[in-house]
Amino acid sequence: MSKKIMILPGDGIGPEIVEQAVAVLKVADEKFGLNLEFTEGLIGGASIDAHGEPLTDAELKNAGECDAVLLGAVGGPKWDTLDRAIRPEKGLLKIRSGLGLYANLRPAILYPQLAEASSLKPEVVSGLDILIVRELTGGIYFGEPRGIKTLENGEKQGYNTYVYKESEIERIARTAFEAAQKRGGKLCSVDKANVLDVTVLWREVLDRLAPEYPDVELSHMYVDNAAMQLVRAPKQFDVMVTGNMFGDILSDAAAMLTGSIGMLPSASMNESGFGLYEPCHGSAPDIAGQGVANPLATILSAAMMLRYSLDMGEAAAAIEAAVSKVLDQGLRTADIYTEGSKKVSTAEMGAAVVAAF
Ligand code: NAI
Ligand code: MG
Repeated sequence: MSKKIMILPGDGIGPEIVEQAVAVLKVADEKFGLNLEFTEGLIGGASIDAHGEPLTDAELKNAGECDAVLLGAVGGPKWDTLDRAIRPEKGLLKIRSGLGLYANLRPAILYPQLAEASSLKPEVVSGLDILIVRELTGGIYFGEPRGIKTLENGEKQGYNTYVYKESEIERIARTAFEAAQKRGGKLCSVDKANVLDVTVLWREVLDRLAPEYPDVELSHMYVDNAAMQLVRAPKQFDVMVTGNMFGDILSDAAAMLTGSIGMLPSASMNESGFGLYEPCHGSAPDIAGQGVANPLATILSAAMMLRYSLDMGEAAAAIEAAVSKVLDQGLRTADIYTEGSKKVSTAEMGAAVVAAF
């Protein structure tokens, strides 16, 4: 039976990088007989331009009926002046919450070939391999009430609400404990329990579950310290688990340890193992249309898709090996370029991965 993959290129560099990832998936399909079928849809600004909204209900339904979704990125200055309710980013929030994709897995791995591209000293980052597990459908990004109101004295006040239910904390915690069991056995939960009540509950739930995972060593860290530790000594971490907003910020920081945010893939899963796969970066309007964006984060996201949602681990490993091979060949897009390497375009990088198969 064929596996149906929904492709949502989105905006900015989205279409450029997704095109390369699809080319890589097609060669993996040929080589391993995966029987993949592709269908393309609209999200973000592309959907606003066509339908007046960032993700239609029909497209959301289409996505949910596929076996997995591969997404580029959304957003850009063209749509920045729109009302927040119909901005491109709303399409992302809608597909994440609409499909219940609460578990966001963001591995940050430093390829040894890119040790020089990292902003940290080689001895601090070499061999880095951490996994950030970010809760994706709750917390302050979704809490109600929210808005901007005018106070009695005429001054405006903006507000958001930071909420988590125990059940929401428990399911993301279990994802993280299980990931730690399969990896190095260490889990660091990141919160701000010294200030925020909701994260006091977060910590309680993690502690309550810990005895069920005796093979995992659980620790807690405040988010400000975690940010510091990530740049001071990132290799102390194995798996980190945190809420939506802290995870958003910390995973971008972790991204830079690997040389470039253009190297970081991600998976967002629901309870039944359905997943949406996308690079951690955004639509990079500053470089869109120039053919210079790094497609590797999207290509590595496609590999995660094969592994986690489609049970095609062998093909996933082959994609990852091909990526490693092109890095061995010294090929670098501008974001990971260092002296002595060979600068290539988005399309050249994609073609090199295809050729490395
Ligand atoms: P961004 O991640 O798009 O870009 C940040 C910086 O990283 C830029 O200098 C960009 O050129 C660079 N960069 C990003 N991806 C790259 C790649 N593959 N290769 C080389 N360089 C790359 O974040 P920014 O600038 O804050 O946001 C731009 C737009 O993207 C906004 O509209 C924002 O809302 C949206 N966004 C969308 C996300 C998504 O679709 N998941 C996530 C983050 C932002
Ligand atoms: Mg972000």
